[in-house]
Amino acid sequence: MASSPAKAAAFETALSACAADVTETLERLLPRPDGPEGRIAEAMRYAALAGGKRFRPFLVCQSALLFGVSKDAALRVAAAAECVHIYSLVHDDLPCMDDDDMRHGVPSVHRAYDEATAILAGDALLTLAFDILGDPETHERARVRIELVRRLAAAAGAHGMVGGQMIDLASEGKSLDMIGVTRLQQLKTGALIAFSCEAGAVLGRASPDAIHALHAYAHDLGLAYQIADDLLDAEGDTGTLGKTAGKDAAAGKATFVSILGVERARGQARMLADQAIQHLDLFDERADLLREAPRFVITRRN
Ligand code: IPE
Ligand code: IPE
Ligand code: MG
Ligand code: MG
Ligand code: MG
Repeated sequence: MASSPAKAAAFETALSACAADVTETLERLLPRPDGPEGRIAEAMRYAALAGGKRFRPFLVCQSALLFGVSKDAALRVAAAAECVHIYSLVHDDLPCMDDDDMRHGVPSVHRAYDEATAILAGDALLTLAFDILGDPETHERARVRIELVRRLAAAAGAHGMVGGQMIDLASEGKSLDMIGVTRLQQLKTGALIAFSCEAGAVLGRASPDAIHALHAYAHDLGLAYQIADDLLDAEGDTGTLGKTAGKDAAAGKATFVSILGVERARGQARMLADQAIQHLDLFDERADLLREAPRFVITRRN
């Protein structure tokens, strides 16, 4: 199904609505500054409520829609995924990692507060995610909650996002081949995007076939998402991005752009976006916004 300006506009509207809903949910679930430890709640709120596209929450909510899951439950899981994402950004920006001074158009957490507070705020966002998933309000069945907890732990951990960040840092100044960069990107970005696409199916107790299809979709979408991030780093401007442009080349990062160059990386992202849509063939028109997501991913400006 080809994209059109009307579909693109419907997508943007739905993404903004989801961002507003998830921000409101986070506002409710984040701790409030209180007592001698109040600074940590302040830093968590600063990090989580500053902005961002809320793309992972959108994927959770759209996959939940396919299986008739309640909006409240979907938003709780969406908020959990976003807490892990925000934590990963807070730590990614630290001087010992990418050393970035700006995020979402404002000073990164270690600049606005200090390094120790940024580390602790990240830690507390990560644990909050599991607190949210473990709460019976997320799903009445313990089995479903445990499944979500285990999937998010796997997506975030040593063979997921953290593993990807390890490869990313270890390969600075080295040249990886396509297989190496693909693995790096799948782990650091793809794993949490895959969790987000599959979570709605887990909440809705969908068939293994449906989960498998969403996993295949997420695989291609996640890679396209990180290639787009790498292209924006190379070609975007700091004002539009809300984070410092041109950092990857300066740090000698191994990316699709460093291996393939801008044009071929763009072609690869387009190919993955087309491929992602095909995995949704077994779903009806309720998957139409998911069908539009790959186009958004490769044309986004920030
Ligand atoms: C940035 O992610 C880091 C990656 C893993 C690509 P996003 O582009 O989704 O971050 P937001 O929208 O600014 O939160
Ligand atoms: C970070 O990738 C991915 C994470 C898991 C946080 P980048 O380092 O490319 O993300 P940005 O460009 O700083 O957002
Ligand atoms: Mg990084
Ligand atoms: Mg970074
Ligand atoms: Mg980047």
